[in-house]
Amino acid sequence: MSDTPALTLYDEVGGMDPFEELVRRFYDDVQADEVLWPMYPKEDLEGAIWRLSRFLAQYWGGPSTYSEQRGHPRLRMRHVNFHVNPDARGRWLKHMTAAVDSMEFSPIARQQLLAYFDRAATAMVNTFEPTPDGERTTESR
Ligand code: HEM
Repeated sequence: MSDTPALTLYDEVGGMDPFEELVRRFYDDVQADEVLWPMYPKEDLEGAIWRLSRFLAQYWGGPSTYSEQRGHPRLRMRHVNFHVNPDARGRWLKHMTAAVDSMEFSPIARQQLLAYFDRAATAMVNTFEPTPDGERTTESR
């Protein structure tokens, strides 16, 4: 331990590894979700894990690897082709909350992460239409 206090949440939780572990646990749950999983790229799960974990690490003060590789996040724009209705938002947030709670974050880090995820997930909602049967995603890229 150094005497320098952690300045960012990225440092506070212990750097990249905990972010990647958090996202792996999140995707473990998402794979069992009948509404969310059809939206995700099954053939590129490792890529999805990389993108979300690097985005989060960057957001919380870690290295800007995400933007170097992917450009400006523009998250709402990147989600417009996914059917993110309140049900999908609730499921996403439930899995992320479970993942956060499974980690050994400090109470303040946990609280900051959960407050952020709650807000960010609301911002991603782009439809109030029910999830269409058999047509849960549209072409995304
Ligand atoms: C509200 C429900 C949400 C749904 C249903 C959803 C769904 C998805 C899907 C299907 C992808 C494509 C996976 C990939 O190829 O990377 C994706 C990507 C991504 N999502 Fe979400 N998402 C949600 C909320 C959020 C939130 C709250 C955040 C941030 C806190 C977020 C951050 C990201 C990032 C960073 C990517 C990768 C973007 C890229 O570089 O292409 N998502 N999301």
